[in-house]
Amino acid sequence: MGPQALSQVLRHIPVSHDPRLLVGLNTSDDAAVYQLNDGQALIQTVDFFTPMVDDPYLYGQIAAANALSDIYAMGGKPLLALNIVCFPDCLPHTVLEEIIRGGAEKVSEAGAIIAGGHTVRDAEPKYGLSVTGLARPEQITANAGAMAGDLLVLTKPLGTGIIINGVKAQLVSARAADEAARTMAALNRLASEAMLRHGAGACTDITGFGLLGHALEMAEASGVAMEIDFASLPLLPETMEMARLGLIPAGAYNNREYLGDLVKLDEGLKPEEQMLLFDPQTSGGLLLSIAASGAAKVVDELAEQGVRAAVIGRVLGREATGRQVLKVKRYCSASSGTPNR
Ligand code: CO
Ligand code: CO
Repeated sequence: MGPQALSQVLRHIPVSHDPRLLVGLNTSDDAAVYQLNDGQALIQTVDFFTPMVDDPYLYGQIAAANALSDIYAMGGKPLLALNIVCFPDCLPHTVLEEIIRGGAEKVSEAGAIIAGGHTVRDAEPKYGLSVTGLARPEQITANAGAMAGDLLVLTKPLGTGIIINGVKAQLVSARAADEAARTMAALNRLASEAMLRHGAGACTDITGFGLLGHALEMAEASGVAMEIDFASLPLLPETMEMARLGLIPAGAYNNREYLGDLVKLDEGLKPEEQMLLFDPQTSGGLLLSIAASGAAKVVDELAEQGVRAAVIGRVLGREATGRQVLKVKRYCSASSGTPNR
């Protein structure tokens, strides 16, 4: 069963209508949000996965950055984290120590505290965090706040799934592999702080469902359509070369099938360019829906801080696109700057 099929099953969990639950199950959001009082909302999330890199310390960093990202995607600040560990008897304990050390370092970089955790024996290692964060209720950037006229900003380059495949096939250069690793291990903290300064309406992080899968969740929750300019997408180095070699993860095909005819791709897009749009991302960037003036400031301020963000498209009213909620154009238009490769 693919991840989408699983999430369909999970849709049948009874939905709570308690008014204190500001964000719950029904909008495919990154985290649950619970209103504590007029000025404070609690954010709760959990995320863990199997290794996608050989280095255990790097794996720990990536898994932690990915789990913390769901707090950042909601406009929150992480406070506390609990380790979730599955580990086999057959591997040396030093491997586990390195995973935990990588995770702890990221949590501390985020200004949060590891307050415990739980470990079970399992055939395959898995690691991640349950994270608790805090936000002002009016600043929560759920999926449902995208408005027609907003621009879409993406805060990390795409291609991690394809590059991970290329690394396994030993076809990616050391430099490109390092850059992908750095990108996956990077916190979305600066991006989240920039969006809070400039008032994004909606935000999600790009992970397993790929750019279009997560964009669709935001578009559906907000009742809008979106148009993405392919040429403006920031990419990890060597991504298109690997895609042309056919190193597309199986998850990308699942994502494409799931989205089906909700997406209209420009006929000028080559097959490998199309698949990039569905590439499952590990610890990807934030996708923001934000007014044009704010979008420019977010991109500029992040560039000054060394974060590669780009305007990648715009939010439209549903009436403009009919059934096709997402449209991808081949060429960038005036609002999205110069091609990024
Ligand atoms: Co998420
Ligand atoms: Co998540």
